[in-house]
Amino acid sequence: MILARFVHLLVVSIFLGVCEAGLTSSYVRETGIATDMPLDSDVFRVPVGYNAPQQVHITQGDHEGRGVIVSWITPDEVGSTSVLYWAENSQHKKTVNGDVVRYKYYNYTSGYIHHCTINDLEFDTKYYYVVGWGNVTRKFWFVTPPRPGPDVPYTFGLIGDLGQTRNSNQTVTHYEMNPANGQSILFVGDLSYADSYPLHDNTRWDTWGRFVERNVAYQPWIWTAGNHEIDYLPEIGETIPFKPFTYRYWTPYKASNSTSPLWYSIKRASAYIIVLSSYSAYAIYTPQYKWFINELTKVNRTETPWLIVLMHSPLYSSYVHHYMEGETMRVMYEEFLVKYKVDVVFAGHVHAYERSERISNIQYNVVNGLCTPINDDSAPVYITIGDGGNQEGLLTEMTEPQPEYSAYREPSYGHGIFDIKNRTHAYFGWHRNQDGFAVEADSLWLVNRYWKTGKSSVA
Ligand SMILES: [Fe+2]
Repeated sequence: MILARFVHLLVVSIFLGVCEAGLTSSYVRETGIATDMPLDSDVFRVPVGYNAPQQVHITQGDHEGRGVIVSWITPDEVGSTSVLYWAENSQHKKTVNGDVVRYKYYNYTSGYIHHCTINDLEFDTKYYYVVGWGNVTRKFWFVTPPRPGPDVPYTFGLIGDLGQTRNSNQTVTHYEMNPANGQSILFVGDLSYADSYPLHDNTRWDTWGRFVERNVAYQPWIWTAGNHEIDYLPEIGETIPFKPFTYRYWTPYKASNSTSPLWYSIKRASAYIIVLSSYSAYAIYTPQYKWFINELTKVNRTETPWLIVLMHSPLYSSYVHHYMEGETMRVMYEEFLVKYKVDVVFAGHVHAYERSERISNIQYNVVNGLCTPINDDSAPVYITIGDGGNQEGLLTEMTEPQPEYSAYREPSYGHGIFDIKNRTHAYFGWHRNQDGFAVEADSLWLVNRYWKTGKSSVA
């Protein structure tokens, strides 16, 4: 009887031990490096007509969600610089004029890159818009977000490190077909991977722009810069970091008093989103540091309860590749993420998926030996979702044993859905490309860090 009871306790304790540890998925996947889709792929097709606008994309254009930046490229001449737009159920059409920019990158010259900001739109309204000229016009639509408010439901998609392979295409399709119905994408960096080509062949920025148009022309993608956006190549005289990215993909940084398009914030429905740049100076006294710390103090969790931070290089990752690349930013910023009760930090860079426990390592001060992350109820969940499907392939090598801070990890291609229900609850799901559209390989209910106890000591 005593022996049986002992065995029972042993089995229970082993079971509990297993449950408390993180999960490393046993899924076996193809690890071969994928190649980019060929130039004659249908997803890269140039729209029909002389000087037809191509690579149409939208992003949020102001701080509140009533602005949209519409961007497109005309290949042959400037053409029309304006956007015609109107609300569904309205006959009143308006026109707004934009800017045109071009850049050279070694022996490449871009097309005419148009950026047109539409302001003062109505919240929660469907708009149609038209770009182009004469007989060659193209019509698209978008839906503005609801007015910011604490209990406004809203669904974000999460995609990172996308590139332009068949896996990339599958990721976008899975996102489009996902019944969760994402309304806007939080993109965590590394867009085209044009820099994988000799001389960073910028025509691969153009093919990428045409590939993603089918989604980003209809819903805003919120841009984060990754290392593949740096395009720094002094051997051929290209010494301005982020040149192609900043010409092509504008962000509403001035609306949040940022001095750089690489870090900024927006409100969208019930979320306050802060975008950081892993590859710009971020130490104390730098513009990004000063802006970020000040920005955190501005967030009104009664208006936007969900505080989300985007960056490219993860602060916690237990994969071998890129291990601890985010460590210096963690040392600088983690105490503020905890102090201001950030709900979730999304990152890419590591071509795999990983979700952390709520942990922090701010106790560690180099000499005290307390270098193991500890459970911290005020800390964010860290989610790495750099599994969009670029030509570098998946990263399968993991540090062993799985650290306790790592709750789930798996190198498979996919995307995420962050579904805000109200001020207290949001649901995150990770969708793998090999599964059905509605299947979640990992999921988590998040309880808002500010509202979980009704109040917070931090404003
Ligand atoms: Fe990266």
